[in-house]
Amino acid sequence: MIPDSVRSDFPALGQQVHGHPLVYLDNAATTLKSQSVIDAINLHYQKESANVHRGVHFLSEQGTVKYEETRHTVQKFINALSEREIIFTKGTTESINLVAQCLGQQVLKEGDEILLSTMEHHSNIVPWQLVAEKTGAVIKVVPITDSGEIELEAYSQLLNEKTKIVSISYISNTLGSINPIKEMIELAHEKGALFVVDAAQAMAHIPVDVVDLDCDFLAFSAHKMFGPTGVGVLYGKESLLESMPPYQGGGAMIETVTFEKTTYNQLPEKFEAGTPHIAGVIALKDCIDYIQKVGLENIAEKEDQLLDYATQRLNMISGLKLIGTAKKKSAVISFTLEGAHPHDLGTLLDQQGIAIRTGHHCTQPLMKRFGITATARASFSFYNTKEEVDKLVDGIRKAQELL
Ligand code: ALA
Repeated sequence: MIPDSVRSDFPALGQQVHGHPLVYLDNAATTLKSQSVIDAINLHYQKESANVHRGVHFLSEQGTVKYEETRHTVQKFINALSEREIIFTKGTTESINLVAQCLGQQVLKEGDEILLSTMEHHSNIVPWQLVAEKTGAVIKVVPITDSGEIELEAYSQLLNEKTKIVSISYISNTLGSINPIKEMIELAHEKGALFVVDAAQAMAHIPVDVVDLDCDFLAFSAHKMFGPTGVGVLYGKESLLESMPPYQGGGAMIETVTFEKTTYNQLPEKFEAGTPHIAGVIALKDCIDYIQKVGLENIAEKEDQLLDYATQRLNMISGLKLIGTAKKKSAVISFTLEGAHPHDLGTLLDQQGIAIRTGHHCTQPLMKRFGITATARASFSFYNTKEEVDKLVDGIRKAQELL
């Protein structure tokens, strides 16, 4: 049970937009930031600013300890076996690009197959296209059902000895479908393929255990976990990360440098070239502490209630069609409205203080699958309320009258 008082942890919720209290329903794009996270970032810049892994002075050592504490916290949060398996990146996109470039170029050769699904975000498609172009590998696509579920039978059939890498989202950012990742990983491993999980939409909503899943890589972003933009994580099994070449060259990722030859640092620094987003990484610990304080079970329960209530109420609006009705869903609701372009609807809702996302949601192949170019999408977090669902429904009805 999550009390409504939790809303006061998020200062953005206290504001008015266009003269109305903000109704923030764009959590799949980015979540709001908790005061504890904002405080952690402020503290770093106000008093603790220093570079990490480089100085012998107090602030640098303190910063390094805090930076590494986050790594430890992330390791525990996803149940990784070692801190060496936790690489800090700019976000999910960079994490996937890192795997695609470093692993892809290592394991892929002409004719090998990379398996994605129709519902992938562009950030889990384009990095693989880039590496496919370089290696001659081929991209295959797992189809989905009309309700937005992975076609498991087709998936099994697509897997074969040429499949080297499978990369699939845990939760679809557009449909909300929660994919049967564990089962899919097991099937991929039976064929000897490596499995990358895009967990961007999962981390703030459901527990994720990399040992239980047995995924080879997992990517996520802090900004979808009430944290700062520009920080993310790549988890990778240690032996795989060990075997991969570095992603970028620069400071911190080296052991020794001469003009003749450079040797690389050990994990995880091998993949962390340059000064990182120190304040952001430090704040990621506060995000995880905050999520754990509220409790992922409580979060899931509240979001399920919001999903059920919103689905039921939205379904009563004539001309509204839900896109994505998987049995296992996260609190993301995409829809189209007869006679209204999603952008116009989004603008009219915005005038009532209601923030939703409209467009293709960086999933153009998925839009094509449903024969549309855009949807309106309301995505919820545990701080949203049933009253806000009511405001959304009233807002859509008002917009319908105008359009
Ligand atoms: N991937 C984010 C979204 O779905 C940006 O909105």
